[in-house]
Amino acid sequence: MPESLRTELCGVPLRTPVLLAAGTAGTLDETAEILDLSRIGGVVTKSITRQARDGNPEPRITWTRAGMLNAIGLANPGVDAFAEQVAPRAGAMPCPVIGSIAGFSIEDYVAVAGAMEAAEGIPIAELNVSCPNVHGGVEFGADLGALSELVRAVRPVLASTKLLVKLSPITVGTPHTPADLARVAADSGADGLTLCNTIPAMGIDVRTRRPLLANVTGGLSGPAVHPVVVKIVHDVHRRFAREAGLPIVAAGGVTRWQDAAEFILAGASAVQVGAGTFADPKAAEKIARGLAKWVRDQGHTAVVDLVGAVAIDG
Ligand SMILES: Cc1cc2nc3c(=O)[nH]c(=O)nc-3n(C[C@H](O)[C@H](O)[C@H](O)COP(=O)(O)O)c2cc1C
Repeated sequence: MPESLRTELCGVPLRTPVLLAAGTAGTLDETAEILDLSRIGGVVTKSITRQARDGNPEPRITWTRAGMLNAIGLANPGVDAFAEQVAPRAGAMPCPVIGSIAGFSIEDYVAVAGAMEAAEGIPIAELNVSCPNVHGGVEFGADLGALSELVRAVRPVLASTKLLVKLSPITVGTPHTPADLARVAADSGADGLTLCNTIPAMGIDVRTRRPLLANVTGGLSGPAVHPVVVKIVHDVHRRFAREAGLPIVAAGGVTRWQDAAEFILAGASAVQVGAGTFADPKAAEKIARGLAKWVRDQGHTAVVDLVGAVAIDG
């Protein structure tokens, strides 16, 4: 991969700023069959919960005209099986691994954080406080007090592991903006932010009159959400992350290099590809190649020089 793409996230060196998003790349290393993982920036694991979960009934993935609807419901092997059978492979991965943590109580999150901390080869954890597809999935990420309490409880468990907090793009029904929640996460000990998870959504088959997903509702991702998340990344970067030196990892509709470039200009240090990998399993690799050419065309030698470099008058 070109030198110009080299960057770092919370002090962890990345070969490129293009990562695979949580839940879209298998539990850990399954995408190695279709993708050269030494050519991407990193992999985020499936979100791991304390107990094993089968997830929601099928159908739980479907496509809309502008993206993807999913209601996987955090299907995962649970923290014990993850620690015994999956995490030991993390150290052998050809790219950094970010361990995604989900839960339904502070104790749940703390237990999974302990497993991430104990694992060799998981230098960064990502706290998923924004899953729209399970009961209680967004509660921690929608309330300033609960979010602060959770991050403060998990932070000391991750003694040698950096912590990203992954937020929802939607705060409707609360008096807060995503930037308010981002600031609370940062003030409570987050080393960086992942912006964002999917947007609660629903589709209906008008012939059968049945919801497209067995769970009735799900999360929208892909191109439709991209401009929404560009604004959130820009707002968070401008309001405090830039000054605080807090890295933002942007997720939402990155399917082409232009989408990744937009996120970088808005203030993201790295991006994650989710739905894009379903559409084209090699998307992350292709996006990185496109980014390298863009950096050159912009007259720069390093992608990091373009972080937050959107040109706004005044
Ligand atoms: C099938 C599927 C499963 C997902 N599972 C998780 C998950 O386990 N944990 C999580 O934090 N986000 C999960 N997400 C959200 C993605 O990580 C990402 O934040 C979101 O899809 C936006 O990126 P995209 O538009 O590139 O898909 C999932 C998304 C999809 C499409």
